[in-house]
Amino acid sequence: MARRRAALVGAGHTRFGVLPEGPRALLRTAVDSAFGSVDRGLERSRVEEAFLGTLGFSGWQLGNASAVLAEEARILPAPVTRVENACASAGFALRAAVRAIESGARDVVLVAGVEKMNDSPSPHRRYWLGVSGDTEWERLAGLTFAGVYGLMASRHMADYGTTAEALAAVAVKNHANGARNPNAQFQKVITREQVLGAPRVADPLGLLDCCPVSDGAVALLLAGEEVARTLTDTPVLVVGAGAGSDTLALQERESLTSLSATKAAATDAFRHAPFDRSRLDFLEVHDCFTIAELLALEDLGMAPPGGAAAMTLEGATAAGGRLPVNPDGGLKAKGHPIGASGASQAYEAFVQLRASAGARQVAGAERALTHNVGGSGASATVTLFQRG
Ligand code: COA
Repeated sequence: MARRRAALVGAGHTRFGVLPEGPRALLRTAVDSAFGSVDRGLERSRVEEAFLGTLGFSGWQLGNASAVLAEEARILPAPVTRVENACASAGFALRAAVRAIESGARDVVLVAGVEKMNDSPSPHRRYWLGVSGDTEWERLAGLTFAGVYGLMASRHMADYGTTAEALAAVAVKNHANGARNPNAQFQKVITREQVLGAPRVADPLGLLDCCPVSDGAVALLLAGEEVARTLTDTPVLVVGAGAGSDTLALQERESLTSLSATKAAATDAFRHAPFDRSRLDFLEVHDCFTIAELLALEDLGMAPPGGAAAMTLEGATAAGGRLPVNPDGGLKAKGHPIGASGASQAYEAFVQLRASAGARQVAGAERALTHNVGGSGASATVTLFQRG
């Protein structure tokens, strides 16, 4: 029997950046905008369940953030479950919603992601960035996420001859894309020389190799395919929802130049998909640091091991290239409010596959992949979308 499919019917996105609003207001804005985007309208009472991605950064509503979403979304008494998988929280929240619909348990489900990161001082922010890393071997020894990805970058450079110029090309491309995204934290073009000359954060990564610290929220409305077709003529089908895990500490892994959770998630997502990798029109990958985009391209099977640098340097992943990557600016330029990023990637799939992405539209886009990673790769999701 054919599997029931889930579809996106609405999506809302706040601006990402250093924002004056608190988490409640951010959630309210994103959810209101998602309901406002449903072509033929959707009553809030039809939402049967919701999933919320959030780390609870800075200690905001460390417990029971779900109750805040239920209130702000005005979907009481629908049940809400909070999903916390570090930076992959919303990717996993989306997957839970897709499964609820595919199983037939629910017809209409809300997914939201939120993080408020800029309301605490720098040392406090460093603490909260650290909580998602391995405590025994990494965090207590002083290793930050920039440090972890710096180690991966050094190993990639040693094993494959990847250059600082290739890493810089990722940042330059994603800033060029972010400059066309009105929701992006950084809407400014940068040059290779600026990236290479920026202050060092964790060698070989400099300031412009890193994603920023961001506030923001995103909301997605999903429905079973047959319900979705009553709500809009242009639903965006979710045709693969894969996930995988790996060890928390880097030292337990076989390789520093590959995330096996990404590979597992991709295999899982493509298992029942109606198309293969060669049919994808664009990707949204988890570029928390420039090296992460290169690792993602290789682990997702878009480039051979060590091959993503050349692919990037030749312009294949740029806007108008053979396979555009992160047309919204990615985590690097759009920003990375931890619990919202996975939902933001799905938002991009929604607007692109409905040909409503404005200045950053990928021409003729019909199929997309999104890739969301938790921390240094302990968890990952890969989601496949197709214009309905
Ligand atoms: N990219 C580009 N510019 C950045 C930036 C980034 N990642 N981070 C900060 N800036 C800019 C700010 O806008 C500010 O510019 P201004 O002086 O023109 O206003 C300036 O740099 C200083 O900002 P500040 O917030 O004081 O920087 P910081 O030194 O406290 O933080 C990082 C810089 C890179 C350490 C911080 O952004 C960071 O920790 N990023 C990684 C976040 C992370 O680990 N997320 C989880 C991933 S797994």
